[in-house]
Amino acid sequence: MKRTKVIDALKRTDFGSEITVMGWVRSKRGSKGIFFIALNDGSTIKNVQIVGEDQNFDEETVKQITTGACLRVVGTLVESPAAGQASEIQAGEIEVLGPCDNTYPLQKKGASWEYLRTVAHMRPRTNTFGAILRIRHNMAMAIHTYFYEHGFYYFHTPLITASDCEGAGNMFQVTTKNLYDLRKDEEGKIIYDDDFFGQQASLTVSGQLEGELGATALGQIYTFGPTFRAENSNTPRHLAEFWMIEPEMAFYDKEDLMDLEEDFIKYCVRWALDNCRDDLEFLNKMVDKTLIERLEGVLQEAFVRLPYTQGIEILKEAVAKGRKFEFPCEWGDDLASEHERYLVEEYFKKPVIMTDYPKEIKAFYMKLNEDGRTMQGTDVLFPQIGEIIGGSVREENYGKLMNEINRRGMETEKLEWYLDTRRWGSCPHAGFGLGFERLILFVTGMQNIRDVIPFPRTPKNCEF
Ligand code: 4AD
Ligand code: MG
Repeated sequence: MKRTKVIDALKRTDFGSEITVMGWVRSKRGSKGIFFIALNDGSTIKNVQIVGEDQNFDEETVKQITTGACLRVVGTLVESPAAGQASEIQAGEIEVLGPCDNTYPLQKKGASWEYLRTVAHMRPRTNTFGAILRIRHNMAMAIHTYFYEHGFYYFHTPLITASDCEGAGNMFQVTTKNLYDLRKDEEGKIIYDDDFFGQQASLTVSGQLEGELGATALGQIYTFGPTFRAENSNTPRHLAEFWMIEPEMAFYDKEDLMDLEEDFIKYCVRWALDNCRDDLEFLNKMVDKTLIERLEGVLQEAFVRLPYTQGIEILKEAVAKGRKFEFPCEWGDDLASEHERYLVEEYFKKPVIMTDYPKEIKAFYMKLNEDGRTMQGTDVLFPQIGEIIGGSVREENYGKLMNEINRRGMETEKLEWYLDTRRWGSCPHAGFGLGFERLILFVTGMQNIRDVIPFPRTPKNCEF
């Protein structure tokens, strides 16, 4: 089926030539025996205009040209008299490939985000989701290109694992056991010997631990894949299945790590501005009037680098001056997204890399500072989003790492392979994880993470 994509059709200037396009009807209007169809095929936010005269087509065909119908149009490319478009197509032949009656759920303009989530299988056909999904694709390309240009290897870490990287216990189990008939030992613990993997297995929350194996052999690697978290967080920033990008670098210290976080994220934002202009302009008009300004703003400013302890002082000062927060912010508390956003949006008015967190609120693998109570974490906090990157220098000293593991009462049995990196040829190294959907939220100006992934997985929601 030979066709010209709409994005290419709109660039053509060989007026008078025959052209074939295929796509879905966005709208149809007509008067005095002439009809105008806005046809979209997903290759661009823009539609191509098809013009036809009723008398040239049989009545049944014209009746079937309704919003949502799929058409094949053969016609002549002509210069358009209408403003805002260089060309249009004078239809010679129209074939309705897929009719669409008035039960089509996307007929009405201005449907709510909530409603569109209930028809997530259809919403990619709307202008807004088309724009978001093209941007999502482009961001994935930006990420691979960035790492390719910087000499990182794409390293594939397993999705099924027996270790809990973040130690938060938010893992989905993977089993082939008959859940209606579980064998248990005398203590009431489930026996996994006869399970598929012969032990308890789960979906990964992060590829980091295996990523460290890659970095301590290949130097610089990154992962880019789905991760899973069974946290019961019903927020506009959490998914149960999300995509994460995790670079891991040997011979990186905290400064190197923060430089990479900042450079990488700016590269992605610049890529969007350079490669997704039409979609961004659409979103800027329809979703968030300050979107492009905010994206350009991020490129201009150096990110603030702020130790946690100083951050807490700023927050406490704000509270003393009457700023109200829902959650407390004493030294030792994990910052809530309201705190992060206060620092980024109100206080500094630019992205912040927060560093050196209390060890009690961070994961076991982070490098301990000399003070013995803070760890070399480097989270990036963004306007509108809060935490977009979670990163750290890793504890490379075997003794110190074991101290932390023991202090937390963690089982080492399943971590021996990880500890081997510290036993043999241990090296300083660091890495971070960027939540892909949080990046897409920022780049699109969307408010809810459920609307930047085609099929969101959240508590009590696993449709499609
Ligand atoms: O801060 P997190 O938990 O860090 C890690 O998993 C590290 N192992 C990463 C590393 O150093 N290699 O998660 C990293 C990022 C967060 O900053 C956030 O952007 C995103 O992943 N994220 C989520 N995104 C959507 N839904 C969730 N439930 C998320 N949890 C984390
Ligand atoms: Mg984090």
